[in-house]
Amino acid sequence: MPLHRPARRQEPDPAPAKTISTTAGELPAKANCAPNPRQAVLKSPPAPPSTSPRRRRDTARSLSSTHAIFSVLVVLLVLAAQFLAPRLPHELLKLSKTTQHWRAASPETTPRDPLLFKNPPTCPRPDQQVEFKGTFYKEHDRSMALVEQAKRVSNEFDFDADHVRKAVKEFIREMDEGLHTTGTELSQIPTYVTAVPNGTEKGLYMAVDLGGTNFRVCSIQLHGNTTFSLTQSKVAIPRELMVAKTSTELFSFLAKQIEAFLKAHHEDHYFSHIKRRETGDKATEEEIFNLGFTFSFPVQQIGINKGLLMRWTKGFDIDDAVGKDVCALLQTEIDALHLPVRVAALVNDTVGTLMARSYTSPGKTGTLLGAIFGTGTNGAYVEKLDKVTKLTSSNDSGAYDKSTGEMIVNTEWGSFDNALRTLPNTPYDTELDAKSVNPGIQMFEKRISGMFLGEILRLAIVGLLKDPKLPFLRDEHSAQNDVHSTTQIHDDSPIYNQWGVDTSFLSICAGDHGPSYQIIKQTLDRDYGVSAVSAEDAEAIREIAGAIGKRAARLAAVAIAGIVINTGRLNSPTAGATTEQKEGIAPPRGTVESSGKGDIPEEDIIDIGVDGSLVEFYPGFEDHVRQALREVEEIGETGEKRIRIGIAKDGSGVGAALIALVAGRVATGN
Ligand code: GLC
Repeated sequence: MPLHRPARRQEPDPAPAKTISTTAGELPAKANCAPNPRQAVLKSPPAPPSTSPRRRRDTARSLSSTHAIFSVLVVLLVLAAQFLAPRLPHELLKLSKTTQHWRAASPETTPRDPLLFKNPPTCPRPDQQVEFKGTFYKEHDRSMALVEQAKRVSNEFDFDADHVRKAVKEFIREMDEGLHTTGTELSQIPTYVTAVPNGTEKGLYMAVDLGGTNFRVCSIQLHGNTTFSLTQSKVAIPRELMVAKTSTELFSFLAKQIEAFLKAHHEDHYFSHIKRRETGDKATEEEIFNLGFTFSFPVQQIGINKGLLMRWTKGFDIDDAVGKDVCALLQTEIDALHLPVRVAALVNDTVGTLMARSYTSPGKTGTLLGAIFGTGTNGAYVEKLDKVTKLTSSNDSGAYDKSTGEMIVNTEWGSFDNALRTLPNTPYDTELDAKSVNPGIQMFEKRISGMFLGEILRLAIVGLLKDPKLPFLRDEHSAQNDVHSTTQIHDDSPIYNQWGVDTSFLSICAGDHGPSYQIIKQTLDRDYGVSAVSAEDAEAIREIAGAIGKRAARLAAVAIAGIVINTGRLNSPTAGATTEQKEGIAPPRGTVESSGKGDIPEEDIIDIGVDGSLVEFYPGFEDHVRQALREVEEIGETGEKRIRIGIAKDGSGVGAALIALVAGRVATGN
């Protein structure tokens, strides 16, 4: 049963307990406030002297008249205080709030209304300091316990320079292993994409993207001058379809979204096709859309538009699709709706990101790596064809163009080091994995990506809540915290449910720099059923969330470093063959972005395209990545400066269209 939430009160800006103490003589060292000079005056009244009965009566009389005068004075004082109270500065008001509860001025005003928290707390002046009992600050030992526990948990997420270096070595070992052997942790899937587009392509293409929370359908008009226009629609994938009994349920849903998109955005095209069908005419080649299918799961690709699903990731789990050609599954449902669409290319989102970044990135340098740090994480990079021995020495591989001497390889790095040789492992990682749909795999992804970071934080929070003595997200009475109410985590809080905490909350934590952590408090109140959150609760959560985010970024750096080092880009910077080199075209690509890092010659730049919610929204993600890159000896300060990381927003859509275009050309022999 949901607990009753305490009535909302209008309150001034709460001061972080670490910086202010209002209990005289008990000021924490950090408070930097002078002790309260009035403390002695306000101590208990002196005991009455022992006297004769008469004198006692006189005394009683005089006492009662004194008492009457005193009472009048008190009443006057109270009246004056009530008159003056609203005019006093917030900080002073706060000091007088031992028992008083302030009502909200209007129902819209809440204690967490940012307007009420505008002023950062400051130390009261000595003459403002008054003694009163039962403040949160009296509970200093309790709050210190929370600070210590938060630190202990956040330390569990440390991943220091030594660990980064060891993991990079292991990454390189697994990269090489995956290039000549199948069934390894790092799958190193050859994509059959051997060149990037040159920016002069033109035409209208379609792309769909299935890879996480949403399904996107888009059409892309390529203008032939490295620019494009994109129309897209996005729909959340119902959770029940992610774990449907049969793949038909999922793929027919996808085909229906394509149909709806065509009706909405390419009405003429769609209806002229329907008309033609009704009159018994066959669709012409021009009428058919070539569609790039971004399918962001591990697939053993056996041709540009053919690939067998190896396993599901990111919470999807539909048994009967494993081992099947996902392009055929989609084409069947498209055909069932008689849509003028041909699945021309199968693309991983990382490959799409790499293609899109290479198409639009400034300067002449081809992009080395396309990486996703979103719901999942993965990277695809340009590899020398002769290193992909499991493809080149196989008799069953499909046809591919050998002339560029390169191929884009989809690493599927989400499954790097499943054996945990070098990856960090906390009790929260272990529990998350054990309760996931795919225990023991995607261990790297489970420590980095958006699908999992919220859950790691949730497990860490739940771990702290298990200690009944810890004043965390709860306390016994209103005097124990800086918001002067009873902090309470409600029974129906999502914090108690698996996947109940969204990774966006980590971004919120990283973006709230205090001092009173209003945004964290508001979010906990609004989205996570915790009322009257104290500054210390918020700070503890922020500390742990920050450690989880930092570890994720440092792990991301492991993969980037491994690829930069192992491809030899630090020594021979020029990008490999691209379509433009092959065809001798030098498209106008615009000028080089300034990296703000001094004069790095264009040919020395190692370009990386990234996409995904973490890189886009997690504050400081790239800074943490770069810090870890500098700690890897082979890269160091100099190498790190040469690495240019650029967002390739929605690269999976544009990239898929570009690959569909190339594939379409191959199919029609142009
Ligand atoms: C998962 C998928 C992978 C995809 C990545 C990012 O790791 O297995 O194919 O690229 O998520 O979406």
